[in-house]
Amino acid sequence: MLHLLSHPLCDHVVTHLRDRTTKPITFRTLAYQISLLLAVEATRDLATREVTVHTPLETHQGCTLAEPMIVVPVLRAGLAMVSPFMELFPDVSVGYLGLERDETTAVARRYYAKLPPIRNQRVFVLDPMLATGGSAVQALEVLRTHGAREVSLVCVVCAPEGVRAVEETHPGTKVFAAVLDRELSTQKYILPGLGDFGDRLYGT
Ligand code: PRP
Ligand code: URA
Repeated sequence: MLHLLSHPLCDHVVTHLRDRTTKPITFRTLAYQISLLLAVEATRDLATREVTVHTPLETHQGCTLAEPMIVVPVLRAGLAMVSPFMELFPDVSVGYLGLERDETTAVARRYYAKLPPIRNQRVFVLDPMLATGGSAVQALEVLRTHGAREVSLVCVVCAPEGVRAVEETHPGTKVFAAVLDRELSTQKYILPGLGDFGDRLYGT
């Protein structure tokens, strides 16, 4: 259920994301690059259907994607992951969930939701950080309540605590991540992690 990227480029990009001297402009480029790798990995098992096309030379039985692509970035940080999905899947529908962790308790609060029709659809939640799992669990609850058939999480860095929380509350959920880090700090930040993804992305 946890699928990790295994590619030298992944290690290279994540190491630069972690580096505290990396400036927001570079951080955004690296976030785009890792999200592109994740988009390819997370969609490996998308359903296809057979179609007939005519090449300039002959008739060919090929395959095209069978289902619409729906992604739901979690504001703010998840916005960094949307572009690669939009570029790879031009017909994508994008919903938005606004979730924010309280700075002292680390408990996530939902402040915004705008979703396309998702009943019986497969949905990909985009959120670069899976720490306590509180935000991901809330996102999964909202999407399940709206009737999603299957929800996958796509993250850059995840912590064992967050993966466990998702497993316990929504067993069978696929989690695609670039890396699995060691643990959470007492302030519920991922270690070694990369700090606050949203702040580093937007220079706040
Ligand atoms: C970050 C991150 C996740 C959440 C993960 O968002 O983007 O949504 O924390 O932590 P959790 O697993 O413990 O819930 P944050 O609340 O900092 O909001 P932001 O993206 O607006 O900065
Ligand atoms: N959110 C972040 O942006 N970073 C963490 O380490 C944990 C939650």
